[in-house]
Amino acid sequence: MKFLIVCLFALVAVSCALPQKYTDKYDNVNLSEIIGNRRLLIPYVKCTLDQGKCSPDGKELKSHIREALENYCAKCTETQKTNTRVVLGHLINNEPEYWTQLTQKYDPQRKYVVKYEDELKTVAAQG
Ligand SMILES: *[C@@H]1O[C@H](CO)[C@@H](O)[C@H](O)[C@H]1NC(C)=O
Repeated sequence: MKFLIVCLFALVAVSCALPQKYTDKYDNVNLSEIIGNRRLLIPYVKCTLDQGKCSPDGKELKSHIREALENYCAKCTETQKTNTRVVLGHLINNEPEYWTQLTQKYDPQRKYVVKYEDELKTVAAQG
């Protein structure tokens, strides 16, 4: 019995020490290519807004948006953290209409997105 309990604690400790990350299966997509090309970018945006079909990576992305937003990407790999900032910065500065739709869907009370907006908005951005 005692042994079992010790095992149980050990198990919990290990799973806490190794926070689960999202899959890195799609970490090698060429992000600059995607955000540099609206024809590639917009389908991802529409997927996450439930306005269009999702590619496998789009689906993966969509399934984690809400959680990643709420815990500031706690389960993101380093690549995903960097990419998230690049994408959000791009949307905030270059796709304000889609950004608004996204915030309305995923963070209607704007509890989390203001932080990103403050951080990533470039003053020089002009339409
Ligand atoms: C990613 O795409 C950009 C733009 O098309 C291109 O210039 C760059 O070489 C690509 N990078 C990789 C690693 O394929």
